[in-house]
Amino acid sequence: MAGVTDRPFRRLCRELGAGMAASEMVSSNSLLWGSEKTRRRADHTGEAAPRAVQIVGADPSMMAQAARYNTDHGAQIIDINMGCPAKKICRVYAGSALMQNEKLVAEILQAVVKSVDVPVTLKIRTGWDRANRNGAAIARLAEACGIQALAVHGRTRADAFQGEAEYDTIAAIKAAVSIPVIANGDITSPEKAAEVLQRTGADGLMIGRAAQGNPWIFREIAHYLAAGAKRPPPPVAEVRDTLLAHLENLYAFYGEFSGVRMARKHISWYSKGLRDGAAFRHRVNQVESRAAQVEMVREFFDAPDTTRHRALGCGGTAGRPAPLTELAA
Ligand SMILES: Cc1cc2nc3c(=O)[nH]c(=O)nc-3n(C[C@H](O)[C@H](O)[C@H](O)COP(=O)(O)O)c2cc1C
Repeated sequence: MAGVTDRPFRRLCRELGAGMAASEMVSSNSLLWGSEKTRRRADHTGEAAPRAVQIVGADPSMMAQAARYNTDHGAQIIDINMGCPAKKICRVYAGSALMQNEKLVAEILQAVVKSVDVPVTLKIRTGWDRANRNGAAIARLAEACGIQALAVHGRTRADAFQGEAEYDTIAAIKAAVSIPVIANGDITSPEKAAEVLQRTGADGLMIGRAAQGNPWIFREIAHYLAAGAKRPPPPVAEVRDTLLAHLENLYAFYGEFSGVRMARKHISWYSKGLRDGAAFRHRVNQVESRAAQVEMVREFFDAPDTTRHRALGCGGTAGRPAPLTELAA
């Protein structure tokens, strides 16, 4: 997720049970390769294998170059984005806009697969719009072009993030190919994870928004699928310690100025649903220094009321996924 799955967050999700954590999307526009943002997105120092980097673009040769650039910088899997509905991506005919042009899809997939010797995977939506659900056709094309796994966000491009994910369409896409299919969309709890696996027949699950402020969801799902019983949510002291460690990793990765700003959204997510959370978020969003941010987080999570509230199971991000902040922009 752009703006979310940076190296510190990927590391945390992996530590808490995610089998894989893909990078934020990296533009294939080589003019951007020297930029601070792209350089940071290609930084995998200390990251556990497999390191999956997602690239986005619409020009086959630029996409092939971007794939090589990223494998040269440590990517062990190249993932291609054909799912992003954001206007600034679709305007240049990339992301989910590509699903309208199957010929160009094939050219991009072939060019990228040929350019690297690591597995190439693809992320799609169910189609362009409800009248054009061509996900199964794109899936077959992907398999023929040498794509090794396919993630499907169960909505059309036109539906953006509206409505419920269409698990029946994911099931039809899964039935159309023999490469692994990973189901995605609105998986917010261990029970929902089991239901989606059952309804789609998918080989894996991809979790996005529900991991924001709740990276424990991965171990909770793994436990539920293995044991058939729910694991209790983390106690508030674990939430506090995990968040504090996450903050330190953000400061180390981005430096204090950007780290404090990047941390704000994570702090908001972790504190969602907790007593006095809104007032806390308002206060913590004003502070500019790392020391003040850490102090305020510690104070909030150490308050007896917060502890009681979370321990009663009222906190966390259960239920609907967190609202979109990034893509709305
Ligand atoms: C803030 C944000 C950024 C995202 N960025 C990307 C991205 O860079 N690449 C991608 O394939 N999907 C991206 N997505 C889509 C998610 O990967 C996922 O398909 C979608 O949120 C549905 O899954 P969920 O209901 O589990 O969140 C993004 C979603 C959000 C909310």
